[in-house]
Amino acid sequence: MKGFHHALSISEHIQTFPRTYKEDQGYRVDDSEPCERSENIIFHADGLKWHVKVTSKAKIGITKRAGLLKRRKKLEALISLIDFHSISLLPDTVSEIVIEKVSCLLCLPKLPLKQEFQLDYTEPSDTCWVYTIQEDASRVLYPIYDIESKLPMIALADIEEKEQISNNVFLVTSKGRDENLIYKTVEHPFYEQNHTAVFQQELRNLVLLQGCRNIVQLVAVVTSPSPFQTKPSSGSVDVILGMVLEYYPNGTLEDAIHLLNGKGTAWKTWPCHLAHALLRLHNTCITHMDITSRNVVIDAADEPVFIDIGVGYTYENLAPEFRNDFPPLELSFNQRCQNDWWAFGKLLIELASIEDNGSSGTIIRNIGEKLSCEHPEDRLDISEAIRILPTSKKLIYRNII
Ligand SMILES: Nc1ncnc2c1ncn2[C@@H]1O[C@H](COP(=O)(O)OP(=O)(O)O)[C@@H](O)[C@H]1O
Ligand SMILES: [Mg+2]
Repeated sequence: MKGFHHALSISEHIQTFPRTYKEDQGYRVDDSEPCERSENIIFHADGLKWHVKVTSKAKIGITKRAGLLKRRKKLEALISLIDFHSISLLPDTVSEIVIEKVSCLLCLPKLPLKQEFQLDYTEPSDTCWVYTIQEDASRVLYPIYDIESKLPMIALADIEEKEQISNNVFLVTSKGRDENLIYKTVEHPFYEQNHTAVFQQELRNLVLLQGCRNIVQLVAVVTSPSPFQTKPSSGSVDVILGMVLEYYPNGTLEDAIHLLNGKGTAWKTWPCHLAHALLRLHNTCITHMDITSRNVVIDAADEPVFIDIGVGYTYENLAPEFRNDFPPLELSFNQRCQNDWWAFGKLLIELASIEDNGSSGTIIRNIGEKLSCEHPEDRLDISEAIRILPTSKKLIYRNII
């Protein structure tokens, strides 16, 4: 980088992130060695932070799946030898250094090693370590926060993590306030760059659904300077790291069904609430496409709330006629609505198990079965289903609650 060799500064150090260690998985088939191993680090020097992914394509003779920890340690040992000062790292992004062991005849730059290691670093004379440098094509893409968008925002520094709920979902509080919130991040352990577009789609959906009852409500986007900024406080534009949602504290519908806990008689009104919420969703030209009991949570008033809207699907939760088609999210709007109603029918059948032999359970199961018949032509029309779904008033009238 920076054209000349620096003396080691006191503040210089390499911060490794063991959880980012990755190997290509080909070796699992025949217990050979992975062809590629990588780990992300931050190289701190002179008050600057350089984000680097170090990828090694060199074989080290440690085969087998069980050797993973040893291979990671070897890579970290190699990383600790590298003189990052002598490499032109890229600012404000993630640089990927790809290391190979090759015949010395190839004219790639030699991997620079720290002075103290150069002498005792012995290799057969016809091979040497070389490197290439490029922008890391797997880095997390954070959307830029556009001030003009007027999206409400909370600075990352102003939220506090309380608990991790899943890979990219956290329970948080806004600093100085007691109120619990949900923080859904762009980054997660299995991140791929197309996940950013998915995140942005979910965000657009939630903006359109503001104020809709029984549908998850966006509170704000979480912003900060780019995590890959090289020079701290250099005043670059903020990026979006995730979104903050209202927190609904009474568990998922999956938990409620599993524990046969319908919150007293509240569960009997859930089909009606959810059916109307789905109508509101469809009236906004959005389809859910992943209606499952995991994607419904129960709010403080024991009403159900749809979450995870419009960006994913689960193969088993697709209506049979759409399972072998082109990507489900690319079906026509009408087809996607039909798919939602089919999945909603399945959800009702599951929900009815809270009271298998009771009259409410039977009514809800029957409607569910009619919505999710195998053949589309035999299915109950959804407006008819809404008409016959028990509302709390009807249930009270029929003495069912
Ligand atoms: N607003 C919320 N209130 C309460 N729990 C939530 C909320 N949003 C998400 N969760 C919890 O986090 C889990 C994962 O969230 P979800 O939005 O479905 O993400 P994913 O895309 O990972 O499925 C949910 O199943 C639920 O347990
Ligand atoms: Mg989900």
